[in-house]
Amino acid sequence: MLRFLGVISLAMAAKAQCPDYIDYSNVPHGPFSGGEYNLSYMRPDPACRTFNSSIVEQTVDRVSQGIADPDLRRLFTNAYPNTLDTAIAWHGYANDSDEELTFIITGDINAMWLRDSANQMQSYLPLLTASQAFDSLASLYRGVINLQARYILTDRYCNSFQPPVESGISPSPNPSASEDTVRPNYTNSSVFECKYELDSLAAFLEVSTNYYNATQDASFFKNYQWVDAVKSVLQVADEMMVPTYQPNGNVSELAYSFTRLTTRATETTANDGLGNPFNNGTGLIRSFFRPSDDSTIFQGFIPANMMFASYLKSASDIMYAIGDQDDLAGQMCDLSENLRTSISKHGIVHTSNHGDIYAYEVDGYMSQNIMDDANIPSLLSAPFIGYLDRDDEVYQNTRSLILSADNPYFMRGPVINAIGGPHQGPGYAWPMASIIRIFTTDDEAEITQQLQQIVSSTDGLGLIHESINTFNESDWTRQWFSWANGLFGQMILDLEDRKPEILGQSFQNSTS
Ligand SMILES: *[C@@H]1O[C@H](CO)[C@@H](O)[C@H](O)[C@H]1NC(C)=O
Ligand SMILES: *[C@@H]1O[C@H](CO)[C@@H](O)[C@H](O)[C@H]1NC(C)=O
Ligand SMILES: *[C@@H]1O[C@H](CO)[C@@H](O)[C@H](O)[C@H]1NC(C)=O
Ligand SMILES: *[C@@H]1O[C@H](CO)[C@@H](O)[C@H](O)[C@H]1NC(C)=O
Ligand SMILES: *[C@@H]1O[C@H](CO)[C@@H](O)[C@H](O)[C@H]1NC(C)=O
Ligand SMILES: *[C@@H]1O[C@H](CO)[C@@H](O)[C@H](O)[C@H]1NC(C)=O
Ligand SMILES: *[C@@H]1O[C@H](CO)[C@@H](O)[C@H](O)[C@H]1NC(C)=O
Ligand SMILES: *[C@@H]1O[C@H](CO)[C@@H](O)[C@H](O)[C@H]1NC(C)=O
Ligand SMILES: *[C@@H]1O[C@H](CO)[C@@H](O)[C@H](O)[C@H]1NC(C)=O
Repeated sequence: MLRFLGVISLAMAAKAQCPDYIDYSNVPHGPFSGGEYNLSYMRPDPACRTFNSSIVEQTVDRVSQGIADPDLRRLFTNAYPNTLDTAIAWHGYANDSDEELTFIITGDINAMWLRDSANQMQSYLPLLTASQAFDSLASLYRGVINLQARYILTDRYCNSFQPPVESGISPSPNPSASEDTVRPNYTNSSVFECKYELDSLAAFLEVSTNYYNATQDASFFKNYQWVDAVKSVLQVADEMMVPTYQPNGNVSELAYSFTRLTTRATETTANDGLGNPFNNGTGLIRSFFRPSDDSTIFQGFIPANMMFASYLKSASDIMYAIGDQDDLAGQMCDLSENLRTSISKHGIVHTSNHGDIYAYEVDGYMSQNIMDDANIPSLLSAPFIGYLDRDDEVYQNTRSLILSADNPYFMRGPVINAIGGPHQGPGYAWPMASIIRIFTTDDEAEITQQLQQIVSSTDGLGLIHESINTFNESDWTRQWFSWANGLFGQMILDLEDRKPEILGQSFQNSTS
C-alpha cells in the first residue's frame, strides 16, 4: 500500500555490511520480548545506526526501567531511537561554511519532508539542551532548521525534498510526481514532491520554536537564512489568502496550482489545479493538501490554520529576540491573532448531537467537511499543537464527535479502534491517532485502553506502523515510518512525567 513504490532508501544500505532497514524491519529478530505479544528486537546493529547520542541511550535505559510490561518496554526501546538509528541520512556542513545541515529521511522513502523532519526532531525535544558540539542533538536541530530554510527559499510551495548537494547523495526518482503539472515550476534535483500544505510551513516554525524554547539560542537565527525563510513563509500566507473570485467576478490568478495524472481523487485537485472555490473574506489561509499528502476538499483547512496560528505566534518571540526585526515580528503576531478570529468565526459549526464543534475544512461559502484524519495536524491534536487547552468546550465537543462513528474516518474492529483517513482508506486505523488520543487526555482508563491496543497490534514486529486493518493485525502499511515511532516514544516520556503509575501496569492478557 506504500504510495512510492520503487523508491528504496539508501541510508543504511550505504554502509557495506548493513542491511537495508526496509527489509530488516519487515521480519522479526531476537531476542524476543518474552511477553504475550512476543515482540521482536528492532534496533539496528550499533555499527549501522545513523547517529549516536548518549543522552538518548541513557533515556531509553532509564525510562525502560520504569516500564513493567515486557512488550510495552520492548516497543518503547525499538521505537524511541528509530529516527537516530535509521533516518539521519546525512549530517554535515554547507559548502565553505560553518552552517550545519541535517538531511533526515522519513524512513522508507529517501526524501526529507518538512513536516516529518520537524516532528522526528520533536521526539527528542525533552532531551534538547544548548550545545555547540557537532555531535549534539542541538546540532541536529540546527541542521534541520538550516536545511528547511534553504528548501523554503528555493521552493516555498513544496512539501518534500532531495538531499542537499553537499551530501553527495543522489536525488531519488519519484515516479508518482514525474507527470505533475505544478506552478511555480521546480527542478526534481532539489524537490521530491511539490504538494502545497500549509502545515509544512507551520512545521518549519514549530521546529524553530522548539529549538529556541529549549536553548534560548537567539543568535543562531541571525546567522544564516532564517529571517528570509520566514519572509517567504509569510509571502505564501499572503498569496494563499487570495479568494477564487475578485469583487468584479473575475477569476483570480493564483500563485500555485497542481494537477497529477492519477486514478486516486485525493492525489490531484479539482478545477484543473485550483481546487474548489474559496470565498473572499474568510481570513483563513488555503491549503491544497492535508498532512496525509491527500488533497483537501475545501481549502479552508482548519487544523493547519490552527497550527500555523500557534507557531507563528511562538516564532515571533524569536523574531523579537534577534533584534531589528520588530516590524516582521509584529506582522507575525497580527496574522496569528487574525487567524484565531477567523478560525472561530468560520471554523466552528453547530451540530445536533455534539453541540458546537470545529469543522475539519470549510470553504467560506456554506460548505463544511465534518471529519478528522489521523495525520497531525488534526482536530484531535489541537491541544498538542498548542492551539487550545484540552478542556476547551468546543474541543471537547469535537473530540466526542471525531472519536465516534459520527466521524466518517473513525475505524472500528477487534484489532484496534482509531481514526484513519483516506490515505490508506476505510478499514485502516492509524496508531498515530491513538498516540495523540493519549497525549490529549487525563483519563487513565482511556490511556490504558489505547496503550493496550497499540501494544497488541504490531504484528509481533515491535514498531509503530502507519495503519492497521482493524480486522487483521497482519495487514498493515509501512514497516519503517520514523515519525510515528518517535511520537510513540515522546508520548511514553510524557506519561513518565504525567502518569508514571500507568507505566507500572501490565498489558498482558488484558481484555480491554
Ligand atoms: C516469537 O517469534 C519468533 C519469530 O516469529 C518465533 O521464532 C518464536 O518461536 C516466538 N516465540 C514464542 C514464545 O512464541
Ligand atoms: C555509532 O557507534 C558505533 C559504535 O558503537 C559505531 O560503529 C558507529 O559508526 C557510530 N555511528 C555513527 C553514525 O557515528
Ligand atoms: C558544493 O561543492 C560541490 C563539490 O565541489 C559542488 O558540486 C556543489 O555544487 C557545491 N554546492 C553548493 C550548494 O554550492
Ligand atoms: C528528473 O526529471 C528528468 C526529466 O524528466 C528525468 O530524466 C530524471 O530521471 C529525473 N530525476 C530524478 C532524480 O527523478
Ligand atoms: C521554470 O520555467 C521557466 C520558464 O519556462 C524557466 O526559465 C525556468 O528555468 C524553470 N525553472 C525550473 C526550476 O525549472
Ligand atoms: C517552552 O518551554 C516551556 C517549558 O519548558 C513550556 O512550558 C512552554 O509551553 C514552551 N513553549 C512553547 C511555545 O513551546
Ligand atoms: C474581499 O471583500 C472585501 C469586502 O468584503 C473587499 O474589501 C475586498 O476587496 C475583497 N477582496 C478580494 C480580493 O476580493
Ligand atoms: C482578470 O484577472 C486577470 C488575471 O488576474 C487580469 O490579468 C485581468 O486584467 C483581470 N481582468 C479584469 C477585467 O479585471
Ligand atoms: C491478513 O492479512 C495478511 C497480510 O495481508 C494476509 O496474508 C492474510 O490472508 C489476511 N488474513 C485474513 C483472514 O484475511
